[in-house]
Amino acid sequence: MPSRREFMKAAGLGGAALAGGAVPAAAGQGEAGPPAYAARDFSRLVGTAGFSETLLKNHFALYQGYVANTNRLLESLAEMGRAGKLAAPEAAELRRRLGWEWNGMRLHELYFGNLGGTKALDPAGKLGRALARSFGSVDAWTKDFKAVGTMRGIGWAGLVEDGAGGRLFNIWANEHDGGHFAGAVPILILDVFEHAYLVDYGLKKADYVEAFFKAVDWAAAEARLE
Ligand SMILES: [Fe+2]
Repeated sequence: MPSRREFMKAAGLGGAALAGGAVPAAAGQGEAGPPAYAARDFSRLVGTAGFSETLLKNHFALYQGYVANTNRLLESLAEMGRAGKLAAPEAAELRRRLGWEWNGMRLHELYFGNLGGTKALDPAGKLGRALARSFGSVDAWTKDFKAVGTMRGIGWAGLVEDGAGGRLFNIWANEHDGGHFAGAVPILILDVFEHAYLVDYGLKKADYVEAFFKAVDWAAAEARLE
């Protein structure tokens, strides 16, 4: 049975793509399909305290790779659909891969989107009050979120809001696609892949998480609350 890498090669997804590296933007998904995703520009974050320009620019390039690969997968699946090949195992593998790449794309947008702030979280604001309702206090939530953020492994720490009832949870998403709460709205997203901090912090993940907390755009996170 062909390996996943062989499936990717057959679909035109090369080694750089598998590593999440920057690749040229893909074309659209066919004349009748929706337009391809476009990478968002987060260059405004250069200069954020605690995040070097080198680290951020490498991270932007990785993010752009997820956007390009999401487009390529969608295009490959559309082509396989037009060719009547969606029942093939190659299509199933591409479908599985799509969740990984798509979440890699969107989680980076949420992460960069909640970075670049300079003000502290207001405990009396909408988000602060919501945190207190779900966790007892902002301090209790902060302690819990930091514990998630410093877990061993690669993935994402996230504060999410249950779409049914509004309770807030801190979650761990393994890699990009494991552990999400169905229907929950991402409020605050923290990238804890090593590429997110190694250049600036070495193995000191806890120091990176502290720097992240100082750089959160709390207004952006609060605006995501339903
Ligand atoms: Fe990342």
